[in-house]
Amino acid sequence: MKITCVLGSAKANGNSATLAKRFCGKAQELGAEVQTFLLNDLNYRGCQGCNACKSTHDRCVEKDDLEPVLDSIRECDVLVMASPVYYGSVSGQLKCFIDRTYSYLGPDFLVSKTASRLEPGKKLVFILTQAADAEDAFDDIFPKFRDFFSYYGFAESTLIRGCGVSGPGASKERDDLMKLADETAERLAA
Ligand SMILES: Cc1cc2nc3c(=O)[nH]c(=O)nc-3n(C[C@H](O)[C@H](O)[C@H](O)COP(=O)(O)O)c2cc1C
Repeated sequence: MKITCVLGSAKANGNSATLAKRFCGKAQELGAEVQTFLLNDLNYRGCQGCNACKSTHDRCVEKDDLEPVLDSIRECDVLVMASPVYYGSVSGQLKCFIDRTYSYLGPDFLVSKTASRLEPGKKLVFILTQAADAEDAFDDIFPKFRDFFSYYGFAESTLIRGCGVSGPGASKERDDLMKLADETAERLAA
């Protein structure tokens, strides 16, 4: 099993990255191959809306550090996207990356259910951490991105969400979240 892990926080060992690494570590123990990208270390820009991927090209024409990330997802079985909640959404780094995944959709994506350029059957693990305690605070983020990624053929999506997780190292102290990361890895990588 191949896992592509995309980290959206600036912090390589922050709360969201800690949960992603826990998931990936457990999956590796079970034999998975993991490729991790810390977006904050990469030079790239968001989608330019040029629509080349809907006319002359079958992939994004931007030549920057996102190319290998987008390629890696083409090959993966499981995509992990991890982000802190920033202003009620994902981080800017992750949002710019997600906008570039528009290139996975063929020109007829508005009318065809098979417009995705990705092989069907990939799985998504979405990891979010937020300072707010309340479970219903920012609970609209995951369904929104889950639905967009279902257009790409991600048939199964799992959320690992840490609420009330703010200071550095907070997610590491949360046994419930670590357990959920382990259990999700066991379920998907078994
Ligand atoms: C710019 C900024 C915006 C934030 N916005 C929110 C927010 O809207 N809601 C919330 O609950 N926490 C918010 N937080 C707190 C982070 O989501 C939280 O500390 C998270 O666990 C950090 O994850 P990380 O260590 O992976 O970066 C914000 C933090 C920053 C720096």
